[in-house]
Formats: sequence, structure tokens, C-alpha cells
Amino acid sequence: MLVAPSILSADFGNLARDVEAICEAGCDLVHVDVMDGHFVPNLTIGPVVVSAVAKVATKPLDIHLMVENNNFFVDLFAPLKPEFISFHIEEEKHPHRLVQKIRSLGIRPAITLNPHTPPESVEFLLKEIEMVLLMSVNPGFGGQKFIPSVLEKVKRLKALIEKHNPTCLIEVDGGVGAKNIASLKEAGVNVVVAGSYVFGNKEGYKHAIESLKV
Ligand code: DX5
Ligand code: ZN
Repeated sequence: MLVAPSILSADFGNLARDVEAICEAGCDLVHVDVMDGHFVPNLTIGPVVVSAVAKVATKPLDIHLMVENNNFFVDLFAPLKPEFISFHIEEEKHPHRLVQKIRSLGIRPAITLNPHTPPESVEFLLKEIEMVLLMSVNPGFGGQKFIPSVLEKVKRLKALIEKHNPTCLIEVDGGVGAKNIASLKEAGVNVVVAGSYVFGNKEGYKHAIESLKV
């Protein structure tokens, strides 16, 4: 299991310190939640702050766009050379075109699905993408409760991935912790995002990250 701590739950007054610490603690990716106050009812960080994160991060960035006008935001973040950029399928009229654009910028394209969006919505894009991000909470905030129906969705998506593009990864984001990591693994998840579980862990970041590496 690859582990991508979400810096949404970091201490923004000490962001560089926290990003360095999760990288040293053995995370695989640094998950960055970009919210625009329109697609979701919350507003986070733009390329100025994320470039400061990129400077100190020793692990690749996983940028999760929760925005209207994906095309504009891809242009803003592409110069930071993230490993992945994911955008929400619900907010994109031309996902195939945007996937091609992200790839042409040298970034691995990923597509995100809200809790209500069926896995079949990405079936004909699977050959073109590197990862599907399944939201297991409603996007916008950290610290929410895991929605259990996502487990069934992971299994349905896994079958589609095996048929169309077996190397495509499945990432789950929201309410992930020690309690559900085993069932996520069993369902076929490859990457987990964890915000409050990692940054709020009393036993430290290293313990938290290791407990998710099942
Ligand atoms: C929610 C974000 C998540 C969030 C996860 O919109 O996409 O990445 O920070 O936080 P936890 O792990 O606390 O549910
Ligand atoms: Zn996220």
C-alpha cells in the first residue's frame, strides 16, 4: 500500500516542517488538496504555497484538484512538476482532452470520483490514465467519516481496471485509518490518502504511516 498524507490536516503555520517530517517518516506521496470555494465549500492553497511545499518535499506531489475550470488549474500547477494531477469527472466536460493535456505536460493523469459517481463513468478513460481516486467522503474537509459503500465501488472498479488497464492504480481518499486499512487492501486499493489519521496521530507520523503500509 502506498501512503499519501494529506497536508490539509498539517499545521499551516509550520507547513515546511510538517512536509519534511512526513517525508522523513516514510510517506510515498505528498497529497495536496486544492479547493476553490466553488466546486467545494472550502478554499485552500494555490501554486505560491504549493511551490514552497514542493521545495521541501523529498517525495513526489499528488495534486487533487477540487475546482471549477480544471484546465486553468492544470496550467497553474503543472510547472511544479507533480507526479499526479487528478481532477473530478463531475466537473469536466472534456475529460479525455484534459487527460491528454496533463500527460503532454509530463504529469501522470488521474481522475477523481465523488461518492455517488459510478466507476463505469471512467471505463472508457481507463486506458489513458494512471490512477482513479475514489472519494470515500464528500470532498471539502478533512476529518469526516468513511463512507462504507466505497468498498463495493473499489471492487467494481478493480474488475474494470483488470479488463482495460491493469497498471492503473486505485487511490481512496477520506476517513482512512487503521480501522479500515485491511478492508481497503482486500478490496484492491493501491494508494491511500490520510489526513487527520496521520497528522493527528498521538504515536507520531512514522507509526501512523507504517500502520497503513499493509
Ligand atoms: C477532502 C480531501 C482529503 C482530506 C482527507 O476533500 O480530499 O484529502 O484531507 O482527510 P481525512 O483523512 O482526515 O479524511
Ligand atoms: Zn484529497
